[in-house]
Amino acid sequence: QATPVAATPPMGWNSWNYFAEKVTDADVRAAADAMVASGMRDAGYVYVNIDDGWQGQRDANGVIHSNARFPDMKALADYVHARGLKLGIYSSPGPKTCAGYAGSLGHEKQDAKTYAEWGVDYLKYDLCSFGELMKSTAPSNPEQQMRMMHEAYATMRTALNEAGRPIVYSLCQYGVDAVWEWAADPKVGANLWRTTGDIAPHGEFVYAIATMQAGLANYAGPGHWNDPDMLEVGNGDLTEAENRTHFSWWAMLAAPLLAGNDLAHMKPEVKAVLTRREVIAIDQDPLGKQGTRAYTDGEVEVWTKPLSHGGLAVAVFNVGDTRYAGTHPFRLDLKRLGLHGKQQGTDLWTGNAVTLDDHQVVGLASHDVWLVRIDAPHTAG
Ligand code: DGJ
Repeated sequence: QATPVAATPPMGWNSWNYFAEKVTDADVRAAADAMVASGMRDAGYVYVNIDDGWQGQRDANGVIHSNARFPDMKALADYVHARGLKLGIYSSPGPKTCAGYAGSLGHEKQDAKTYAEWGVDYLKYDLCSFGELMKSTAPSNPEQQMRMMHEAYATMRTALNEAGRPIVYSLCQYGVDAVWEWAADPKVGANLWRTTGDIAPHGEFVYAIATMQAGLANYAGPGHWNDPDMLEVGNGDLTEAENRTHFSWWAMLAAPLLAGNDLAHMKPEVKAVLTRREVIAIDQDPLGKQGTRAYTDGEVEVWTKPLSHGGLAVAVFNVGDTRYAGTHPFRLDLKRLGLHGKQQGTDLWTGNAVTLDDHQVVGLASHDVWLVRIDAPHTAG
C-alpha cells in the first residue's frame, strides 16, 4: 500500500529556472541548506528537485549513472533527507532529454529501480525527443502518436510502482492532447502535469500562463494537480509587485509551488514572498479546489478560490502593461462573486483586516495584486 503523495500541491525547489543544465551537487546541497535556513522548510517546502543535466552514461548493463557534477547521488539524497527534505529527479521518455542527456526509453524499469535505490521521492518526466519518435513512428497518424505518448507515461508509472518507493510523478509535456483529461487516470497516475509551454521570468509570460489556466479547475484535486510551471519569483526582471502577483496567482490556482531561484543568495524581499504563510495557506488549503476566474474588467482579472470551512479567497490582478502608471482605482463588484452585503476579510499581503462593501474600491498599481481571505462569506442578502 503506497503512501498517498501530493494530497496538497507539491512545494519545493527545482534547479532548472536558475541553474539550467549546469547544475551541480553543490548547488543542490546549497539549495537544501538555504531551504532550511530561510524558513522555507518550516513554511511547507519539501522537495529539492534536480532537473535536466545530472545524467552521465549507462554502463554495460544499461544502468544509468550520474555525471561528474554529481559524484554520488545516494549521498546527495541522504544529505537532503537528513534535513527533513525530499529529493526529486528528472528524465524523459525519449532516447534523449531536452538538454541532450540520456533519456529513459527502453530503460524505464532500470531507471525507476535506480531512483528508488538512491532514495528519490519525485520524478519530473519530460517529452522532448519522444515527440520526434512519435512523429517518425507514425508520420501521418496523430491518434497513434497520442497513444504512444499515453503509453510512454503509463510505462514509467508502472515502473515506479514496481520500484516500490512512494514517488510524486510529474508529467512535463506542455499540455499536449489536453493532458488534464487523461493524466490522472490510474494507468498514467500523474500527480501533476504541465498545462503549458515553458515559463520565463517576465511579467508578460507569467500573466499569459496564469490566464490560460481558466477553465482547468475541475481537473485538479488532492493527489492530481494542474501545473502551470515552476516559479520564477526572484528571477529575471520580475519586480516586487510581479513576484507578489506571480506567487498569489499560483496560490489561487492550487499550483505546485516549486521555487526556481537561487535560494542561497536570494534577497530578503524575495524570501518574504516565498515564505508568506497566509498566501501559502491559500495554495495548500486542504479542500484542494483550484481557483477560477470570476470576471475580467479591462485589464483587471478577478479570481476566487473556495477554501475549507466555507471560506473564500478573492484575488484582483491588474495585468495592465502600464508598469509606470500610478495606482489604478478599481471597483470590485461583490455581486459578481456571488457575495452580498458587507464582508469581513484579511488582506493577505499586509495582514490588515478589511471590510468589503458591495462596490469595494481597490487601489491597485499596475502588475500588482490585492489578495483577500474571507472566512465567513455572506452569500445571501
Ligand atoms: C523543458 C521543461 O519544460 C523545462 O522545465 C526543463 O525541464 C527543460 N525541459 C529541461 O531540459
